[in-house]
Formats: sequence, structure tokens, C-alpha cells
Amino acid sequence: MDSMRDMIPINQPSMGKEEIEAVVEVLKSGILSEKSGRGPRVLQFEKEFAKFVGAKHAIAVASGTAALHSTLLAAGIQPGDEVVIPSFTFSATAGAVALGGGRPAFADIDADTYCLTRETIEAALTRGTKAIMPVHMYGLCADMNPIMELARNRGIVVIEDGAQAHGAEYNGRRVGSIGDATCFSFYPGKNMTTGEGGMVTTNDDDFAEQVRMIRTHGEERPYWVSRQGHNYRMPEMSAAIGAAQLKKLPGFLQERRRNAEYLIEKLGVLGKLVIPKEPTDRKHAWYLFTARLRGANAGKRNKLVEKLRSRNVGASVYYESPVHMLPYYRDLQSPRRSALPETERACRQVFSLPVHPGLRQTELQYVADTVKRVI
Ligand SMILES: Cc1ncc(COP(=O)(O)O)c(C=O)c1O
Repeated sequence: MDSMRDMIPINQPSMGKEEIEAVVEVLKSGILSEKSGRGPRVLQFEKEFAKFVGAKHAIAVASGTAALHSTLLAAGIQPGDEVVIPSFTFSATAGAVALGGGRPAFADIDADTYCLTRETIEAALTRGTKAIMPVHMYGLCADMNPIMELARNRGIVVIEDGAQAHGAEYNGRRVGSIGDATCFSFYPGKNMTTGEGGMVTTNDDDFAEQVRMIRTHGEERPYWVSRQGHNYRMPEMSAAIGAAQLKKLPGFLQERRRNAEYLIEKLGVLGKLVIPKEPTDRKHAWYLFTARLRGANAGKRNKLVEKLRSRNVGASVYYESPVHMLPYYRDLQSPRRSALPETERACRQVFSLPVHPGLRQTELQYVADTVKRVI
């Protein structure tokens, strides 16, 4: 096929009659939210999500950012405490740390997985480090065993940013059951959505209770506030959509994998590209299929992306700027003791291609053919 009439989006939500019916039922029920944040749909969605990831608790909140912020508050992060995070991430990872009064301590990534490693984290540790927040970039889980070992040895809490990694696996365990707590996002375009929404999973009873309290103004029981909190409740309509999406998630993940494997087969032969890797101990969730234009500078990479977009392939760059170079974080003067060469190189060279479950085979073929043609 030589052309496409409409832009093929990088990601898009897959909605069906199940989601529509679930929302209509909520509207008919008249229960749109519940003041404790524990309405019937929220409770059902939490139970099913906890079971899916293999965690004892799941707490539904208003967004992925709310999940990160609540979790940091529950972990007792105090103003001035350092939290090690990647600079190669969506800014919300750092934003949540700053919102909680913490100081983002930026660490470098691994060139193959785009995730933090034990070594890069070690380079960013100080006596002020209170938490480590690995991001499972593009849907691939970071190498968690060495990170957990380091954190346990030092008494540091590990909060995973799994916003992009619903259904990802590490040594046979799903993301959400590995660190002290994991945060997910249900923004549209993620592997599953609730419109806006987020989830915290944990195996720790006290921690879960703290997050539940933070979700509703720090209330221990109705109107009895015993700690700092917020309104981070998930609406019942969102939870109903989430429960319907969760049932479809295994199918979505299969489609994403199939599409990613097709692109690997077609594009893996191009010497100019570095194709995403899936280590044997992990299962990628393929939120994004991200390749690297070998040896390129940002200008060259951007030109390729422009060429693809002008041919209606919705290629996108995640992320063009390292977070530590964004104006707010530059001014914040976060502790950053070492250079972040792999972060800066990735920001210059990566671009992502669509592999979402809504793609038709003809569109996928067109994506692969167009990349081959314009590169
Ligand atoms: C890595 C990462 N962290 C945090 C977030 C924030 O999630 P939300 O947009 O639901 O607040 C996102 C997604 O948007 C993300 O990709």
C-alpha cells in the first residue's frame, strides 16, 4: 500500500459495548462516587486488578500522578528527602516527587532497556536517599532483583512507576507484585484505560491503609482526619470502564506483542535501526515500540519522524528532553552528581511506532513499509 488517508495514531483506546454498558449501568444506579472512595465498582475493580498483578492490595485513585504522589506520602517522604528516579521518563515521575516536597535525584539509564539499573542508581545514592523509583519504560520491567537487593541493604523503599507496564512480567511475576508499591496510569492510550485514573498495588497492609486514607483527605473514618491527604478518588464510572478493560487486557497484550514481533521481523534487518530488545527473564508489555536511529543526532532523528508523520505514520518521540533539563527541574537544582550520557543519547535517537491493538494488518504493513522506504 502506497498511502494512508488518515494518520495512524501512536496509541488509542479500544472501547466496546462492554465499556458503554458498564457506564450506563453506573449512571442508572445513581452511585457516581462514594465519599470514602470505596464505591461498589471501585471495590470490584481493585479486587480484580490486585488478582491480575498478584498483589495483596490495589487502591484505585484519580490518575497515575495521584498514585505516585499518594505512594510517596505513604512512604513518609519528607521535604528535602531524595528520591532516585530516571531523567528519561515522563515528567510526572519527577512531578510527583516535587509535589511531595522530595528532591528528584536523577540517575542514568541502561542503553538497551531504557530503564534504571542497580549501578546507575548507586551512582545517585546519598545519605539523603529515602526512595528509589524505577520506571518500567515503554512497558519493559527494569532489572528489579539487583535493585531490590540494593534497597533492602540500605533500608530504602522501592516505589515502581509502572504507568506504562500493565501486564509486563519479570521472572514470571507481573509488575505490581515486586517492589514495596507500584503505581499504574489509566490515561487513554495506555495498555488499558479508565478515561483518567490510576492504581497503587502493594503487599503491605499498613501501607495500603495509608494510601486509602490519603485518597480521601487523610480520613481514618468519615470526617476524622488523622494525616495529610487529598481528594484522589476514582469515580465509579471510571472504575466500571476499568473492570471491563481489565478483562480485555490479556487480549490487548497479545495483539501488542503480535504487532511488535511483526515490526521486529520487518525492521530488524535495517542496519540503521536499533530495534527494542526483550531480555529472556522478562515479558514486554509493548506500550510503545521504540527504536533508535543508530548514531543519529536529534536533527536527523526528527527529520525521520517528520517524514513518517507526513506519510500518516504517527511516529512520536518519547522523550525529546531529559527531565533534568526541563526549565522547572533545572531551576530546582536537583542533586545530580554524575552525567547522564545514556539518557541524553536516548533523547536524541529514539522514536516510537504504533503497535496498539486497534491497528489493522494493512496499517501495520504500511508502517513497516514506510519506515523502510524513508529511512
Ligand atoms: C512513566 C509515567 N509516569 C507517570 C505517568 C502519569 O500518569 P497520569 O497521566 O495518569 O497522571 C505517566 C503517564 O501519563 C507515565 O507514562
